[in-house]
Amino acid sequence: MATAVISMDPGVSRFVAAKHRMLINGKWVEAASGKTFPTYNPATGEVLSNIAEGDVADVNRAVAAARAAFESGPWPKMSPSERGRLVWKIGDLIEKYAEELAQLESLDNGKPLKVARAADVPLAADHFRYYAGWATKIEGNTISLGLAPADKFHAYTRREPVGVVAQIIPWNFPLLMAAWKLAPALAMGCTIVLKPAEQTPLSALRLGEIIQEAGIPDGVVNIVPGYGETAGAALAAHDDVDKVAFTGSTEVGKLILKAAAGNLKKVSLELGGKSPNIVFDDADLDRAISGAAGAIFFNHGQCCCAGSRLFIEKDIFDKVVDGVSQHAEKIRVRPGFDPECDMGPLVSEEQMNRVCGYMDSGKQEGAKAVTGGTRVGDKGYFVKPTVLVNTNDKMKVVQEEIFGPVVTAMPFSDASDIVPKSNDTIYGLAAGIWTRDIKKAHAVAAKLRAGTVWINCYNVFDAALPFGGYKQSGWGREMGHEVLENYTEVKTVCAAL
Ligand code: NAI
Ligand code: MG
Repeated sequence: MATAVISMDPGVSRFVAAKHRMLINGKWVEAASGKTFPTYNPATGEVLSNIAEGDVADVNRAVAAARAAFESGPWPKMSPSERGRLVWKIGDLIEKYAEELAQLESLDNGKPLKVARAADVPLAADHFRYYAGWATKIEGNTISLGLAPADKFHAYTRREPVGVVAQIIPWNFPLLMAAWKLAPALAMGCTIVLKPAEQTPLSALRLGEIIQEAGIPDGVVNIVPGYGETAGAALAAHDDVDKVAFTGSTEVGKLILKAAAGNLKKVSLELGGKSPNIVFDDADLDRAISGAAGAIFFNHGQCCCAGSRLFIEKDIFDKVVDGVSQHAEKIRVRPGFDPECDMGPLVSEEQMNRVCGYMDSGKQEGAKAVTGGTRVGDKGYFVKPTVLVNTNDKMKVVQEEIFGPVVTAMPFSDASDIVPKSNDTIYGLAAGIWTRDIKKAHAVAAKLRAGTVWINCYNVFDAALPFGGYKQSGWGREMGHEVLENYTEVKTVCAAL
């Protein structure tokens, strides 16, 4: 395997080597326990940095800071316009430090540097700008009562910030997930305690510095890195947190929900998926084949919306499987800093073992790997892009989220056959449809139980497009104006005249 040839930005070298603390009330502080934890470079398996390890005591301090910032201080007194300008500034600073952030993301997560530069970082900057615009557009309604004469009462609604928000994010798009969570909450005037994933804390910590540089007041954004079972669980259970927003596994989503029951804090969940990607025989096959490959191999399959169940109309099955397999074989699996890298390592040894475990279970249950099916080399956490055939509906590889570059290709007979097959999953996050028949495309889109349906495209993300899941893929929506519901309460004011 080629070694990394892009040299590290000096700012990145300094940041990686620094001692990392947590951000509480505008100060970078050690963990109350004095403990630290390592984050690794998944291309080598070596320790990249050591980070202050947040736990209950730190979560308590951070929530107290967020509460104080919500109740008093400059934040609640600020006009929406001022707040919006600060949120916009975060976007500008992300752009200013784009190369540094892209390098940190590639080092800590493993993704190709060119992908972090082209997708993660600009999408994160745009997210802050999109929600900066919403700060000044929050409105209530005036409402006529149904049972009283119009001159007896004046009633209206106010949309107010939900309060202190806990945000727990995953490792697949570390900076972008922080942006998805922070930007709308800030725009609505909430205060926040953010817990990045233990595998990838670096870009969130750098974002903490950027948030300070932008001039967001102390205590409004607190960042407590640490493990899920300790820091994350303490946040989800905390009695003084008004709302918890989580992205990650469905299993942990259920734990968050239970923990939140103590004070009935509001909960939004963006969880796993097993998304169907459907290729009809009237599709533009070149586009459909490269689109199907991108749907599963983008970000090494570590996407909640990955098109991991590829359904192909039976008369074109062999042709599409062959095309997607050829795409897979051309993918250059290298360290993220290699300029020829198309796919980096998976994020961690644990994730690599999980994905390899699924590939083995598929083989044991009778599936066949047309291409891939194994780890690459013995250093770093690389696996081969994999296409499985000869599967059936009962296999684990067809039912469970693999979260790696592994697709199961399955034939179907027509539009009436594919809808129940597509919906035969506990998940409902996303789906893809490839056809030239616009009537069929929209008819099938309407019947799919999924939060996003892409037609003749896949993985198209925009801050303006709501995203989230049906069924066990979650509660609530991220992005668009829909996410604003997550971060606001509606107050009805009714006055007798
Ligand atoms: P995870 O769900 O454990 O981790 C996501 C976040 O939750 C991290 O910040 C973690 O520290 C935190 N967390 C873990 N346990 C917690 C708890 N008890 N209370 C509060 N917070 C907690 O995901 P993990 O273990 O890293 O990956 C396992 C599988 O989850 C993947 O193979 C994939 O299937 C799925 N996943 C889905 C993601 C998505 O975007 N929907 C992202 C990451 C993982
Ligand atoms: Mg790491």
